[in-house]
Amino acid sequence: MSEFDEERILSSRMQKEDSSNEIGIRPSTLADYTGQEQIKHNLAVYMNAAKKRGESLDHVLLYGPPGLGKTTLANIIANEMNVHIRTTSGPAIEKAGDLAAILTSLEPGDVLFIDEIHRLNRAVEEVLYPALEDYCLDIVIGKGPSARTLRLDLAPFTLIGATTRAGMLSAPLRDRFGVLFRLEYYNENELVTIINRAAQLLQVELLPEGALEIARRSRGTPRIANRLLKRLRDFAEMQNDGVINKEVAQNGLALMEVDRLGLDKVDQSVMLAIIDKFSGGPVGLETIAAAISESPDTIEDVCEPYLLQLGFVNRTPRGRVATKEAYAYFNRPYPQDQIVQQNNLFGQSEGESS
Ligand SMILES: Nc1ncnc2c1ncn2[C@@H]1O[C@H](COP(=O)(O)OP(=O)(O)OP(=O)(O)O)[C@@H](O)[C@H]1O
Ligand SMILES: [Mg+2]
Repeated sequence: MSEFDEERILSSRMQKEDSSNEIGIRPSTLADYTGQEQIKHNLAVYMNAAKKRGESLDHVLLYGPPGLGKTTLANIIANEMNVHIRTTSGPAIEKAGDLAAILTSLEPGDVLFIDEIHRLNRAVEEVLYPALEDYCLDIVIGKGPSARTLRLDLAPFTLIGATTRAGMLSAPLRDRFGVLFRLEYYNENELVTIINRAAQLLQVELLPEGALEIARRSRGTPRIANRLLKRLRDFAEMQNDGVINKEVAQNGLALMEVDRLGLDKVDQSVMLAIIDKFSGGPVGLETIAAAISESPDTIEDVCEPYLLQLGFVNRTPRGRVATKEAYAYFNRPYPQDQIVQQNNLFGQSEGESS
């Protein structure tokens, strides 16, 4: 592999991470990483134990909705373990040889971070199995009956995989991770901490009610919180000498069409499509996507996890169903036949339904 190729594969981060200026506010130590307490606690134990034994950390799989801090955590792990991190992504590794070249260039203990690991192709994945289990590569030389396998030892390393879709990972790959962490949405207090920290780094004057307003409307997601903060900084500079108070926050968020639960235009149109166009469901993901001209992937990865968390949709074997809570939030009368239909779907009698 040429140096150019290696550069292309290893630096292929998602565009959002290159283009947005997340770099300055991305925490680099576990202490600066807010929330996800259980993960941080366990991770600290595993890292200390590995250090004490002089071993590399076991392979780690990070999964959960976009923007919750998977890439950040991968970088923190490398930083706390005092090792290099090499970053690539599933779709960037096209051939088995690409991966072999990366693996052989790792130094003992290094972290290899593969973002979107569910998008690795089969041939590449197979090279990874012996590498993960025995730190070695099996290279096949020749073809047909005279083919031989050559074993090449690798330096012990830690693979960190990140994905928004743990369900799409093949079972043999998933089973080779010793540590699996599912990142959760952040609560209001945690988001306030994250926003205040970012405001300090960006040198924005942010009042407590302003921070709370942003936190409430960030869909539990640090990336969104930071983005809203930056946009509100713009509004504040024009309206209020750069100070973000409650009023600036509320006006700015209204102008950005972020509603009081943090739902944006796409989330709203998903919900309204299910309710208004498909009588509350059940309706398939593809059908919803076609109705609002969005990609099914965006709906499934970005919108749906949060709508599920809010309790606005249910997933049933026959498709997505809008809940009573969703009807109430969008000021629609809950249809009588939905009650009957949902009870049939969930096998409840009316008295049991909550
Ligand atoms: N726990 C946290 N504490 C403070 N800031 C955080 C935390 N998690 C994430 N952030 C901030 O949110 C931004 C987005 O996080 P990150 O890029 O790690 O998300 P991700 O899970 O990798 O998303 P994707 O699935 O889209 O790749 C970071 O730049 C960082 O500033
Ligand atoms: Mg990421």
